[in-house]
Amino acid sequence: AKDDRISRISSAIRVIPDFPKPGILFQDITTLLLDPRAFKDTIDLFVERYRGKDISVIAGVEARGFIFGPPIALALGAKFVPMRKPKKLPGEVISEEYSLEYGTDKIEMHVGAVQAGERALVIDDLIATGGTLCAAIRLLERVGVNVVECACVIELPELKGRERLGDKPLFVLVGST
Ligand code: PRP
Repeated sequence: AKDDRISRISSAIRVIPDFPKPGILFQDITTLLLDPRAFKDTIDLFVERYRGKDISVIAGVEARGFIFGPPIALALGAKFVPMRKPKKLPGEVISEEYSLEYGTDKIEMHVGAVQAGERALVIDDLIATGGTLCAAIRLLERVGVNVVECACVIELPELKGRERLGDKPLFVLVGST
């Protein structure tokens, strides 16, 4: 059943206190990847949700969106588009800044990777403040892509990232464990 799969996924995520800084409870998905059944359940739940929805683009956010995005893209017959940290992509890029607790960061996408009118899903391991996903959505929308939904394995609800996404639908498998 679906609930068995969700609880297996939730149990497979390790929580590490005080990483990378004191007071942060880090949600570590590397232990989920060590459990082939839980990892497969994770991918299957996303694929079941998005199959038949005419999605041609899976946009994955560096770094952990690069782990979950490609198997979903392969199962759906969609392209995978990496949304990278600055100065990593070799071709012409467009970029979007987003605010952090202190300062700003940026993500970049290759020009020509997606076409206006395509339907995209944005995937990452986790939503915290939502700043990263918002920047990914803006990047895709700037070039005329329709972002159908964002999907994450984990949500930290207390940081209210869902509100920052506004009307954009967000699908998550588990709340912070
Ligand atoms: C984490 C996480 C998301 C982002 C979420 O990545 O994997 O990409 O933060 O935070 P937000 O909702 O507040 O924007 P991180 O910044 O640790 O980068 P990394 O994946 O490259 O390590």
